[in-house]
Amino acid sequence: MTTAGARDLRVGVLASGSGSNLQALIDAGVQIVVLVCNVPGAKCLDRAKAAGIEAVVLDHHAFASREAYDLALLAELKKRQVQLVCLAGFMRLLTAKFLAEFTHAVINVHPSLLPAFPGIHSARQALAYGVKLTGCTVHFVDEGTDTGPIIAQAAVPVFDGDDEARLQARIQVEEHRLFPAVVAAYVQGRVTVQGRKVTTR
Ligand code: GAR
Repeated sequence: MTTAGARDLRVGVLASGSGSNLQALIDAGVQIVVLVCNVPGAKCLDRAKAAGIEAVVLDHHAFASREAYDLALLAELKKRQVQLVCLAGFMRLLTAKFLAEFTHAVINVHPSLLPAFPGIHSARQALAYGVKLTGCTVHFVDEGTDTGPIIAQAAVPVFDGDDEARLQARIQVEEHRLFPAVVAAYVQGRVTVQGRKVTTR
């Protein structure tokens, strides 16, 4: 499967926190039509508003189940004809029903070299394990925790004396470069997926 060739894909971003990766997408000129955030008051909302992007709060506490939340999320995205969904620090798993509506059209950025250190606190996990190299991964999203086909990765060294904040900051420098580059490649139709194998021309 090759991703759509149109240069003007309508991109929706989902985020839960600070939104520095959202900012990187904004700064790279990605055509973001909506930000949906599940955490009221999160900084990503301010970043979207400052860039003139519609910002929607969809608080997961207001929903009885993940399925109900994802149906509401889907409605927000469909309402705005979103074609590509970018997870920029969106700390929730997506349900099968949601993903079925966006086959190979949900992309996540994760702060480790997957499959190492999935889930949360990946820099902390890397330090605890004692790896000398970690990094970031941009991947298609499936129902698992950071398990979908890998599109691109960048390595980051771990230095003696690093703490979690220093390592996470070094990883984020790479995230802010890699994520927009992958989104641009996808939007330009340069990303091809076959099973777990992803090729970027
Ligand atoms: C990023 O480092 C991203 O990789 C991570 O959350 C951070 C959000 O930062 N995502 C995950 O861990 C997903 N499993 P940001 O809000 O500044 O973009």
